[in-house]
Amino acid sequence: MCGIVGYIGPQHATDIVIGGLRKLEYRGYDSAGVALLGVDRLLTERATGKLVNLERKLHSVEWDDADARGYSIGMGHTRWATHGGVTEANAHPHVSMNGRVAVVHNGIVENAIDLRHELLATGAVFTSETDTEVIVHLVAGYMTAGMLFERAAHATFARLRGSQAIVLLSLDEPDKIIACRIGNAGGVVVGIGAGEMFLASDIPGILEHTRRIAFLENQEVAVIQRSGFRVRTINGGEVSKTVTNIPYDMVSAEKGEYRHFMQKEIFEQARAITDTIRGRVDFATGRVMLDALNPLNGGLLPSKIFTAACGTSLYSAMVGKFLIEGIARIPVEVEHGSELRYRDPLIQSTHAVLGITQSGETADTLAAMAEGREKGARIWSIVNNIGSQAQRVSDGTIAMRAGPEIGVCSTKTFLASIVDQYLLACALAQARDGHSGASFALAQQLSHLPSLMSQVLDKNSIYAELASEFHDREHFLFLGRGINYPIALEGALKLKEVSYIHAEGYPAGEMKHGPIALIDERMPVVCICIKDAVYEKMLSQVEQVKARGGKVIAVATEGDTEIAKRADRVMYVPVTHPLLSPVITAIPMQRLAYEMAVRRGCDVDQPRNLAKSVTVE
Ligand code: F6R
Repeated sequence: MCGIVGYIGPQHATDIVIGGLRKLEYRGYDSAGVALLGVDRLLTERATGKLVNLERKLHSVEWDDADARGYSIGMGHTRWATHGGVTEANAHPHVSMNGRVAVVHNGIVENAIDLRHELLATGAVFTSETDTEVIVHLVAGYMTAGMLFERAAHATFARLRGSQAIVLLSLDEPDKIIACRIGNAGGVVVGIGAGEMFLASDIPGILEHTRRIAFLENQEVAVIQRSGFRVRTINGGEVSKTVTNIPYDMVSAEKGEYRHFMQKEIFEQARAITDTIRGRVDFATGRVMLDALNPLNGGLLPSKIFTAACGTSLYSAMVGKFLIEGIARIPVEVEHGSELRYRDPLIQSTHAVLGITQSGETADTLAAMAEGREKGARIWSIVNNIGSQAQRVSDGTIAMRAGPEIGVCSTKTFLASIVDQYLLACALAQARDGHSGASFALAQQLSHLPSLMSQVLDKNSIYAELASEFHDREHFLFLGRGINYPIALEGALKLKEVSYIHAEGYPAGEMKHGPIALIDERMPVVCICIKDAVYEKMLSQVEQVKARGGKVIAVATEGDTEIAKRADRVMYVPVTHPLLSPVITAIPMQRLAYEMAVRRGCDVDQPRNLAKSVTVE
């Protein structure tokens, strides 16, 4: 999704803005631009494609010394197209007809068509197909009519419908940046420095410069100057903001020895899970301690949990249903974040709505959580991005502790969120059962998990061999049953995201009801066939695939010689407790997808059309 960075202070703004946009690249984008305010000059540059194209353009700008010193206010934007194609004209910033006001924007102006007609009638000339451009014409129009910059900005914001973040600069008042947040689609964080100020759509964009951050909430407008910032509501009410100190390990945001972030993030999963568990289980007794999420509300457990999530986080939630129902015996309904609010769900005040989102900013998941809030349920979340919106609107949160995930495609946050749900399931059971029950022994099982994961991560040759054999296939099928069915879905999603091979995940028993028609000798079928309660059933699916000439790639338990006789290739994993097996079986899926993408020459860390943080509906 779009990224925004802004700067005002004594330094040259270009480097800070471009550096910040680079930190936000992981969110995904298709074009980029900057606006810089100098001494009586508003300079904008835009380019489609990667940031390097924009940088090339900026290098060819002829700065004279006075300019270079003067451009100490700037803002930049990476765009992920929603309204209008990927063209330079549609890239942000957009500038008013008189060349004095510039805007960058994240989100959607839902009433853009009406506003455009109104502006056209007053003589406005549009140079892009975007919804964003109406904003800059409105602000400039109000200023021409006599309003000062801030009043014109407020008057404009009041007219915008939809969820969005907006940042404005004006040559008429070249000592300030105005930023506004409306709804949930675009975050705005203000970074406080000494004699300089920063702003961004996400914390990583400015964290290199300051850890002192203030978050804008819905309907808030910040006026940012060198010496500080002040916030009002769009209606003009005073707002006092608290400043949060953000802890962050910049080192872990670098690629280190790895070729891609996705590869690095797959390989650091054992560590991520160690961090996720650390301090949360007393392994001597099996007691689980979740400080930031007290499962008891007034002494009562929720009678039902609705889990809302999207994409990979949804598949994590599907695993979580097995965990929470299996361990805590509380019914769970798993919902697509994008669907929940459109079916009048039967959520009650005795229920909990659990949002699972690594970014904490996914608009659909946030909307589902808001629906739960409206219906009186308690709101919980599992997030990786501390300080994100999902955390801030929750009554209780479990942090994934996976560390920054830069690859667009989720890997370590998937596993961390499964483990967090395992912890939650044990905590719920323990809150209800007191000092006895199976949950204590189950929590102790977690102590083995990181070393079991390391065993899967240490095996190297098979994945590259598989990629070399199957990289030219057009379709893949992934089959699993029970708690490993969501892992089949995740295997298919990972493969299509990073290698652009069409893949479908299916519950294995359903294969005979349709997908079996697709199977021929060109069709690889990945079967999760570990030694668990459904092992025999999975073997019979393997036979059905083989009988039709399909190529079986099995994920199987170490030492299983039977499967080796039936499958074409086997990816072995160690014996694991059945409820924790998805954390182990997911790793071969990730590694297979990664190797396939590398072999096919794909952009592993920034797959086409994808965004790390999907802040629009
Ligand atoms: C898949 C992927 C996406 C996200 C989805 C939800 O690799 O990254 O499917 O899982 O967009 O994102 P979060 O977890 O940030 O809500």
